[in-house]
Amino acid sequence: MHRNKHHPVLLAEVLTYLAPEEGQTYLDLTAGYGGHAKAILAKTKNSPAVLIDRDKSAIDYLKNQIKTKNVNLIHQDFLSASQKLLKDKTQFDLILADLGVSSPHLNTASRGFSFAIEGPLDMRMDQSQTLTAEQIVNGYSEKQLAQAIRSYGEEPKAKKIAKSIVRNRPVISSKELANIVTTAVRRRGKTHPATKTFQALRIEVNQELQQLEAALPLWLELLSPGGRIAIISFHSLEDRLVKKAFKEAGGQGYDATLKLLTKQPVTSDKNELFTNPRARSAKLRAAVKIKTRPQPVTSNRLGRKGTHAHAYSGKKQFPRL
Ligand SMILES: C[S@@+](CC[C@H](N)C(=O)[O-])C[C@H]1O[C@@H](n2cnc3c(N)ncnc32)[C@H](O)[C@@H]1O
Repeated sequence: MHRNKHHPVLLAEVLTYLAPEEGQTYLDLTAGYGGHAKAILAKTKNSPAVLIDRDKSAIDYLKNQIKTKNVNLIHQDFLSASQKLLKDKTQFDLILADLGVSSPHLNTASRGFSFAIEGPLDMRMDQSQTLTAEQIVNGYSEKQLAQAIRSYGEEPKAKKIAKSIVRNRPVISSKELANIVTTAVRRRGKTHPATKTFQALRIEVNQELQQLEAALPLWLELLSPGGRIAIISFHSLEDRLVKKAFKEAGGQGYDATLKLLTKQPVTSDKNELFTNPRARSAKLRAAVKIKTRPQPVTSNRLGRKGTHAHAYSGKKQFPRL
């Protein structure tokens, strides 16, 4: 067992909404330590699957865990991997994205994701990437820092924090940064005062929202007609993007390509919250891709019944791959 075991969040709910069956193909965009993937592959009876993660340690771990020939493990970010899959004209019956960081990220001091453990200011999910949190903290202007902390952490005291960081440069460790932020915000409450700042830096280092926003429309194209997609997000900025993409594709009428399975996001029950603190902010949205669009019946001037031609022309046609 991995020393920092990752518990898959909302696993029962993911299985309910994806409803995997024998023979279905599966794309896991954030495979991590394979908690969801193993449960889904057990239901699809190891049908062809692609599991992606931008963190090499997660992929290396999975290589030892999943040895089925049908399962292709890819170390890449999900945007470039999705672009490549689309180019290859691949489609999947089941798609899952369980966004954000894994427990091993948060619990491994050397990765620098946590304000609670002394470590370097790193925060890269893909360690081959050059940009680190340390470069941002010590290299961005005060204005750039404040903007990132406000936009990606939704931190009301972003300006004050940025000022204090600049005054205390160079900032080298995660604990040092956590102390600077704590002193600057002077806030008490249930969550650690540095939570929002650490979230913001992590999102900036990994360009998480840019990745998600650009990849969402590709995922809908990668889904087979009749296929199901489930996305778990961990903060409102992510959930807003997922909600918007699903809403646009699931609109009323003949242009809809998705049918939403969750009107409101699904959250964890008390039992899961008790055993897995990461589940606290998890939100699951799921949808099914419409198989064939109904032919709207209209009558023309001669009273003949026909199809509503304009609904089938133009850009918004059901994507054919
Ligand atoms: C919450 S964990 C997934 C856990 C997994 N579902 C499980 O049950 O073990 C999120 C994973 O997504 C990966 N990840 C986050 N953003 C990514 C991206 N843009 N491209 C590829 N992988 C990403 C992270 O490296 C992390 O391993």
